[in-house]
Amino acid sequence: MSKTVELIYQGKSYTLPIIEGTCGEQAVDISALRNTTGLITYDPGFVSTGSCQSDITFLDGEKGILLYRGIPIEQLAEHSNFIETSFLLIHGHLPNQSELDYFKHHVTHHSMVHESIKNLYDGFPNNPHPMAVCSAVVGSLATFYQDQLNVQNEREIEIAIHRLLAKLPTIAAYSYKKSIGQPFSYPQNALSYTENFLHMMFSNPCEDYEVDPLVAKVLDILLILHADHEQNCSTSTVRLVGSSRCNLYSSVSAGIYALWGPLHGGANQAVIEMLQTIQDAGGNVRQFVDKAKDNDDPFRLMGFGHRVYKNFDPRSKIIKKLAHEVFDKLGLNEPLLDIALQLEEIALKDDYFISKKLYPNVDFYSGLIYKALQIPVNMFPVMFAIGRLPGWIAHWIELQGDKDFKIGRPRQIYQGQEKTDYTPLKKRK
Ligand code: SDX
Repeated sequence: MSKTVELIYQGKSYTLPIIEGTCGEQAVDISALRNTTGLITYDPGFVSTGSCQSDITFLDGEKGILLYRGIPIEQLAEHSNFIETSFLLIHGHLPNQSELDYFKHHVTHHSMVHESIKNLYDGFPNNPHPMAVCSAVVGSLATFYQDQLNVQNEREIEIAIHRLLAKLPTIAAYSYKKSIGQPFSYPQNALSYTENFLHMMFSNPCEDYEVDPLVAKVLDILLILHADHEQNCSTSTVRLVGSSRCNLYSSVSAGIYALWGPLHGGANQAVIEMLQTIQDAGGNVRQFVDKAKDNDDPFRLMGFGHRVYKNFDPRSKIIKKLAHEVFDKLGLNEPLLDIALQLEEIALKDDYFISKKLYPNVDFYSGLIYKALQIPVNMFPVMFAIGRLPGWIAHWIELQGDKDFKIGRPRQIYQGQEKTDYTPLKKRK
């Protein structure tokens, strides 16, 4: 017998169905609430509201569990690679050899961008933030393929998937080259996904450039860890834009902008800037932890806290271990890592953080690794976007085929001026 809840309102009883998830989540189905009771719900930030039913990613915030299509993130980080994980998220299963070869071939052979796209970069002012560039240039792809934007044409969608996965690293690397006034480096099809990105970022026409395999491997693991995270702010943005049957390029462009915010994917850049501020102020970590606890002080410990994880973010654990390995293998002594470790140690013993269940999230250590890989700080959110792209694509596709598909259009509670009359200009004070 299916579970239900009873709502008593104005003396009447209403029975609402419970939807149960495959991992035990319970949801009250309120889709008929307004039609049956006249009531709507109020939930700023959707803290207790599910927007959809999804098969893609499962999080357990209390237990610190993250599964992509049922596979634990720890196993994917250890055994998989980003291209294979992208296929898993988008197509719902691990690829066999021929599926993987086909996917890899098409992602590799769409990595060049139309030569006219370079003119866009010349139109930007000097040193624009690469997130603004990436979103604008990804959005422009809808102009280059405007006769292939039918969201119900499977072949057109497949090509758009390959183009986005292939071209975002190129667009991102070009945004970096633009910011330092160096010529763009074309993609190299013989290189792996992350080797190709690093080559486009750091090679130049004056000398040979060899990609360090350790750096390419570490970057691949970081991309896997960022690949999806259920209905986070940017993924929900991609779904909302896609719910108007808007094309994939434009929906992803909107997702990049949403990810840029310092409360979301921009946090990895904000963490490094925060650690640098602490170092520049003399390294007194306790002083900054106290600032973060002061409700009258807007300062927050960037890289701490999470809407879902009320335990350690499993990605943060993997990234912290990776950071130590990278610094050891590259023989780096990073003072900001020492500050981060002190910050974590003090915060995790402090009642404020314990009571509010604030733990390091995915952004707390990732920036330290990107810094060690010589990636500039303002490119950190771009690395997050490259990682999150397969997740955005997977959710956009799931939405388009959802049996409960509806355009997203939340309600509101109006608290403004009640009905009043127009006052002619002469009669206004
Ligand atoms: C990502 O959703 C996802 O899955 C996101 C993400 C993904 O993979 O897509 O995991 C990636 O965005 C990680 C989060 C990166 N952002 C940051 O590190 C920025 C710092 N963290 C916060 O601003 C905050 O923790 C959020 C935005 C991450 C979560 O905000 P919530 O869920 O709305 O929680 P909240 O702001 O209501 O905080 C709850 C309490 C508040 O205190 P009270 O009002 O209850 O007294 O905790 C406090 C907050 O003031 N708090 C912090 C804090 N984070 C929350 N206090 C100090 N430092 C912090 N970092």
